[in-house]
Amino acid sequence: MKTLSDIFEHTLQDVYYAETAIIKALPKVAKAAKSPELKKAAEDHLSETKDQVKKLEQVFKSIGKKASGEKCDAIEGLIKEADGLIEDAEGTALDAGLLAACQAVEHYEIARYGSLREWAKDLGHDEAHKLLSEILDQEKATNNKLTNLAVTSINTAKKA
Ligand SMILES: [Fe+2]
Repeated sequence: MKTLSDIFEHTLQDVYYAETAIIKALPKVAKAAKSPELKKAAEDHLSETKDQVKKLEQVFKSIGKKASGEKCDAIEGLIKEADGLIEDAEGTALDAGLLAACQAVEHYEIARYGSLREWAKDLGHDEAHKLLSEILDQEKATNNKLTNLAVTSINTAKKA
């Protein structure tokens, strides 16, 4: 890897892998969450994530590349942490911990899409820039929704 174009493509493969991994992880979060609102947030984000994978496929197409993923250790680690919580935590700790784990994933994605959409602009990939900006906005909105859920309901829940 040498050029901006190389790192752009590499990072695109990284997020493609990450989104696919998130699609597999979110049903586990929805199942484990006790709070109905958190369950719904995970389910809603699952359909949004499926849509994001399609958008990423359009991004690959727009730069003349075939969509492919490259193992992303960061997302694997974040998902592993969430799996650990599902095994070890219960009550409020489980819901608050799962919500925080989802936000860690969102922050990771916000960082990645922020870089990617700027690189797309620098490289003159206008369609990719537009699509990646759309995904970035969705991730930010999801993160805000989760913050709101945490402070209004999950963190203050009086559960065993
Ligand atoms: Fe996403």
